[in-house]
Amino acid sequence: MKTSTVLSHPNIAFIKYWGNRDNALRIPANGSISMNLASLETRTSVEANPEFQSDSLTLNGRKETGTALVRVQAFMDLLREMSGNPYFARVSSENNFPQSTGIASSASGFAALAAAGSKAFGLDLSEKELSMLARRGSGSASRSIPDGFVEWHAGKKDADSYAESIAPAEHWELWDCVAVVTDQPKKTGSTEGHLLAGTSPLQAARVQDAPRRLEICRNAILKKNFEALADIIELDSNLMHGVMMTSTPPLMYWSPKSLKIMQEVAKWRKKGIPAAYTLDAGPNVHVICTKEYADRVRARLEKIPGVARVLISGVGSGVQVLL
Ligand code: PMV
Repeated sequence: MKTSTVLSHPNIAFIKYWGNRDNALRIPANGSISMNLASLETRTSVEANPEFQSDSLTLNGRKETGTALVRVQAFMDLLREMSGNPYFARVSSENNFPQSTGIASSASGFAALAAAGSKAFGLDLSEKELSMLARRGSGSASRSIPDGFVEWHAGKKDADSYAESIAPAEHWELWDCVAVVTDQPKKTGSTEGHLLAGTSPLQAARVQDAPRRLEICRNAILKKNFEALADIIELDSNLMHGVMMTSTPPLMYWSPKSLKIMQEVAKWRKKGIPAAYTLDAGPNVHVICTKEYADRVRARLEKIPGVARVLISGVGSGVQVLL
């Protein structure tokens, strides 16, 4: 019997992952860049035990039976195959933030599961191998393994599709102020959404232009150039949502409240406040800003009608094994 407990953080993508070249292996159509979110946390424990008759999953204190459990069982099958260890596992995971609303609980969830699961199954994996493994559970989870600012190299096959840190968490004090407009789970999850990306006539252009955007974003981070970062992350978010809105069937993740916030953020930037928006697969708006402006941006967001609350976070570390 072996138990391991791990702490991980979700990440917010600056250059987005949307659509796969290989759905089964989750090899993405394009590379992506993100930053980990320090104050949002997932804690996951995995116990592998010869006495268990099946895998079980408890999420935020609730026993899961549906698709969440099936997804975790498939991931455990991978660990059993890799380790040669046939045991079933008891998985227990807690988040300190709402799930399924465009704050990537699947990213921190599968990053933590990869790290805790591999340890509980007796595997000693490198950071690169952990990132590849986490990717199999949820693509963006590959980016929650390394520290700070992270790039996921798209690759063409399993072995070359992994994420690595491009700068440590302390490199640049950026903050993410998440304007939460709903705690309702989204109707179409990203696993389903990725399958539709190719039906949009805009996806090919988005993917073809991705290396250019990745380079601009990487350089903006390395040089701490906020203006360049702001322009490229807003463009990239709009491009991804353009693909989502023009796929068949169309996916509309924005709500009128999201659009209102995006318009406000654009106005603030014109007035000299370093703030830029980006949205994942949900209506909540992530507003990236520099540390000095985080309190002001949060206060401004809280005044916008329809914003239920604002979560704020600095840049987080990679996955940490606690036990
Ligand atoms: O890792 P997934 O399958 O949940 O996909 C994440 C997709 C986005 O959050 C919309 C973009 C991204 O790169 O994180």
